[in-house]
Amino acid sequence: MSPLSFTLSLLPLLPLALGALDAQTVKHPHNIKNPHRSQLKRAITNDASQVDGKSFDFIIAGGGVAGLTLASRLSEWNNVTVLCVEAGGDGTDVEDKIDIPGYSYLNSLTGSAYDWAYNTVAQVDSGGGTKYWPRGKGLGGSGAINGMFWGRPAEDEFDAWATLNPNADETWNWEELNKYIKKSENFTAPDADTQSKFSMVIDESAHGSDGPIQVGFTSYIFDACAAWIPAWKTLGFSGIDLAGGSTRGAMFSTSTINTHNQTRSDSKAGYIDPLPPRSNLVILTGQQVTAVLFNGSSDASGNIIASGVSFQSAQGAQSYSVQANKEVILAGGAVGSPQILQLSGIGPKETLSDLGITNRLDLPVGYNLQDHVSYSMYWSTPQGTFTWNNLSTSADLKASALQEYETSRTGLWTYVNEAVGYPSMADVMDSDTEAANYATTIASDLDSTVSDVTSWLSLPSNVAKGLRAQYEIQQKWMTSNIGQLEIILTMLGKGGNEMGIQVALQHPWSRGKILINSTDPFTQPAINPDYFGVGYDIDIIGYGSAFARRLAAASPLSDYMITEVYPGASVTGDALNNYTKTNCGTEYHPMGTCSMLPKDSGGVVDTTLTVYGTANLRVIDTSVAPLHLSAHTMAPTYGIAEKGADIIKKKYWKVVETANTTTTASGSDDSASTAAPGQATDTSVTEANKNGSSSESSSLSSGAKIGIGIGVGIGAAVGLAALIFFFFLRKKKTGAASTEKGWYDQRNPAAGWDNGDGAYKEAYNGSAAGGQAYPMAAFAGPGESSGRPDAPFAHSRTHSVDTMATADLASRAPMRSQSGYGLSGSSTPYRDDHSDDGHGIGAGGMEHGHQYPAPTGGTWPGEQRYQPVQPR
Ligand SMILES: Cc1cc2nc3c(=O)[nH]c(=O)nc-3n(C[C@H](O)[C@H](O)[C@H](O)COP(=O)(O)OP(=O)(O)OC[C@H]3O[C@@H](n4cnc5c(N)ncnc54)[C@H](O)[C@@H]3O)c2cc1C
Ligand SMILES: *[C@@H]1O[C@H](CO)[C@@H](O)[C@H](O)[C@H]1NC(C)=O
Ligand SMILES: *[C@@H]1O[C@H](CO)[C@@H](O)[C@H](O)[C@H]1NC(C)=O
Ligand SMILES: *[C@@H]1O[C@H](CO)[C@@H](O)[C@H](O)[C@H]1NC(C)=O
Ligand SMILES: *[C@@H]1O[C@H](CO)[C@@H](O)[C@H](O)[C@H]1NC(C)=O
Ligand SMILES: *[C@@H]1O[C@H](CO)[C@@H](O)[C@H](O)[C@H]1NC(C)=O
Ligand SMILES: *[C@@H]1O[C@H](CO)[C@@H](O)[C@H](O)[C@H]1NC(C)=O
Ligand SMILES: *[C@@H]1O[C@H](CO)[C@@H](O)[C@H](O)[C@H]1NC(C)=O
Repeated sequence: MSPLSFTLSLLPLLPLALGALDAQTVKHPHNIKNPHRSQLKRAITNDASQVDGKSFDFIIAGGGVAGLTLASRLSEWNNVTVLCVEAGGDGTDVEDKIDIPGYSYLNSLTGSAYDWAYNTVAQVDSGGGTKYWPRGKGLGGSGAINGMFWGRPAEDEFDAWATLNPNADETWNWEELNKYIKKSENFTAPDADTQSKFSMVIDESAHGSDGPIQVGFTSYIFDACAAWIPAWKTLGFSGIDLAGGSTRGAMFSTSTINTHNQTRSDSKAGYIDPLPPRSNLVILTGQQVTAVLFNGSSDASGNIIASGVSFQSAQGAQSYSVQANKEVILAGGAVGSPQILQLSGIGPKETLSDLGITNRLDLPVGYNLQDHVSYSMYWSTPQGTFTWNNLSTSADLKASALQEYETSRTGLWTYVNEAVGYPSMADVMDSDTEAANYATTIASDLDSTVSDVTSWLSLPSNVAKGLRAQYEIQQKWMTSNIGQLEIILTMLGKGGNEMGIQVALQHPWSRGKILINSTDPFTQPAINPDYFGVGYDIDIIGYGSAFARRLAAASPLSDYMITEVYPGASVTGDALNNYTKTNCGTEYHPMGTCSMLPKDSGGVVDTTLTVYGTANLRVIDTSVAPLHLSAHTMAPTYGIAEKGADIIKKKYWKVVETANTTTTASGSDDSASTAAPGQATDTSVTEANKNGSSSESSSLSSGAKIGIGIGVGIGAAVGLAALIFFFFLRKKKTGAASTEKGWYDQRNPAAGWDNGDGAYKEAYNGSAAGGQAYPMAAFAGPGESSGRPDAPFAHSRTHSVDTMATADLASRAPMRSQSGYGLSGSSTPYRDDHSDDGHGIGAGGMEHGHQYPAPTGGTWPGEQRYQPVQPR
């Protein structure tokens, strides 16, 4: 393996890193003279042979919103190795279509190679046809192709996730999720003129301010949008900031936009591109994970242990396998993750046995699917109204706007829709009493609704139980301020000079399911959102349509939205319902297919996001969300992924047990025990690998591969044969290994490659002057140390990686009594949670900066945590 074969070099990152440096830190640029730079390049590769047969601590399936967040956060620890496997490409061939905001609407990547381009099964309750279901396929996932809306739901909606998961190990409520969404967010407010022109209400304190995802507003906003919030006010609403914990009202949603250059800030741009090289992180593109591998062993509680994954670029292509030393994490999204689980024998028993797949764990994977269904209404605009149609229909305007974008990062191509609002049920019914009566009806029919859905979808009984719990919450929301519909202004007409209002159901009563229908991983699963299966949904969206008409007629929006063209003002009642069903589609927000719920209520994962019955297999993406939200799903997914990363870190965070003595702490062997990516040793992995390397693999169903894993676990004879084969394989590979170290193994194990000002500290050399091992965070050096052992080692951060630092684990959930640690009464053994530096031991105690306190009166056990990864 040659280190030179990785596709991304560090060089393109330099201008950014340098540009981001402030005066204080500019003396610590990347050391471009470092002789080891070639080994330190960030590894984004499409060459599967480079990782084939290796082992990593964490393997992440999917490089989308959650996947790259996890890849970035987990690899902050230099002592763990991380592989992220993404089915799609790295995006470099379609940069403009990802980066330029307006392109994602007018030159969309949906339908391209960056879209899985699924179709649903025929939707019997919404027109009878199938519906197109795009999902992003490439680094950044759906976040690279989506509409860029960045919003959160109301407090009660996240709190409902906690309500549905009582007595849990981890709490998933508003406070937690909002904290983690903020952690991922860096909000830039629009200038005062823009705020006042568009009547925006901005509450900066509700937003994150140093996360990796840049969140703000487009530089260009159509003048007509200035009528949006005033029209809502005419109907009695207030303008609000969407991030504040309530969604009822009107606002301009923030977008995932880097306001410096008006480019999309997706998980790759935010979490990966700004990183300095991390030799412990490999991102592999163009490979679809086809199965999670198991070797037949279980932990003491009987939970089965995932040993790795297999992947393939296409049907019939060579199959590869890698071993997971610690965990396999599925981040394939609401379709990909349940598909991988089911292919791997984890899913509804009946579905799997129909396909001849050995059922490893009978779990309701794929059920509890909930999606926002929506459709749009259009009004003609007065002559001369400037809308998106002017751009979409004029090649000249497109060209000149592109030139403007390229030269000044302003103009029409920056625009994406942002004007939204969320009315409650009482709002759309225009009466509290009507909403209360409707809620009463729903309550009295709850049992029959549950039993209808149970029979339509053949729900397992635990799923039905969980459904009832969800419905009870949804019923209460009928009389609360929770947004039942999202109302979105669109500046793009259907055909002519029009403006539209998209009406989107936020809390569907209908439930669906996603189940594989083939053992072939390259055949899409059967996706059935069952739009409008439950009748309440068409009622509610109907009230939403009436509300949209009132809004269009409200001053001053009425100046722009003149005549309703689609469906047309005369279309009401059943005809309107029919129009809605025929013209509706996904708002692209499916969730719930690997729900985080109690096991007896249809849960697939517990609150640590671990798949029930497994020791080390998690799902961390939108599919774990158990109940839908009045929000687009991207920001919640970043919240899920950020919290998920901390949950994993907590598990592997071992605080050094230190007595309050002056003798050397016995210390931990944390770093010694951590693994570098070595060769896979697990027979379930090496065997899968062997099979994969022959062309037979295409005809081998994943069920058959799984069979091999089981065989090794239970059959002594098979096991022996496998073992012999394994030694043979191992021998063959060791020869190669010495020349294969390269990108990982040749890290300088001592004091890093430059102790001077000009370089990252690649390693901690055990002395105060060693510096911090750099992939975790880069430090200016030991200069800020306030002395040892009585003072914490306070550092300065040097560049953008700072914002990637680990959250405060200890203060949320102490792993043990911290009494032996710290200064000034701090109980925090490790803090790496804040952007600013050097304020370690100020009046504010230890809240800021990197703090690695030593035990009082003791030696400095922290040092050994920063040892470089030891090559095996
Ligand atoms: C067209 C569109 C518009 C949207 N608009 C918005 C919006 O404006 N605002 C908003 O908040 N949300 C929006 N969403 C939804 C939002 O993008 C998703 O909720 C979010 O991306 C989900 O994150 P995820 O990590 O769960 O999945 P994704 O971001 O979809 O990532 C999953 C990744 O896993 C990969 N993958 C799947 N299966 C495998 C496999 N077997 N092996 C390897 N890799 C695999 C996929 O290729 C993908 O890259 C939109 C979605 C779409 C499709
Ligand atoms: C956050 O945004 C501000 C203002 O646009 C910018 O100056 C800063 O560098 C950003 N911070 C991060 C961590 O990206
Ligand atoms: C936009 O700016 C950010 C830094 O703020 C940078 O990472 C990114 O590469 C830039 N994007 C483009 C397309 O220039
Ligand atoms: C499932 O597969 C069968 C057999 O190939 C096929 O007839 C059927 O249409 C498929 N169903 C769906 C929903 O894809
Ligand atoms: C429903 O709408 C479709 C398409 O708009 C139309 O073809 C059909 O006749 C309508 N059906 C009814 C019952 O109105
Ligand atoms: C990695 O290092 C961290 C912090 O130094 C330590 O707490 C953790 O236990 C180590 N992780 C593993 C997997 O060894
Ligand atoms: C299976 O995995 C377990 C846990 O990782 C490991 O201890 C065991 O050695 C593996 N067995 C085989 C046959 O590789
Ligand atoms: C540690 O021991 C010293 C001296 O024995 C004592 O003064 C101090 O309070 C102890 N610290 C803690 C945190 O127990």
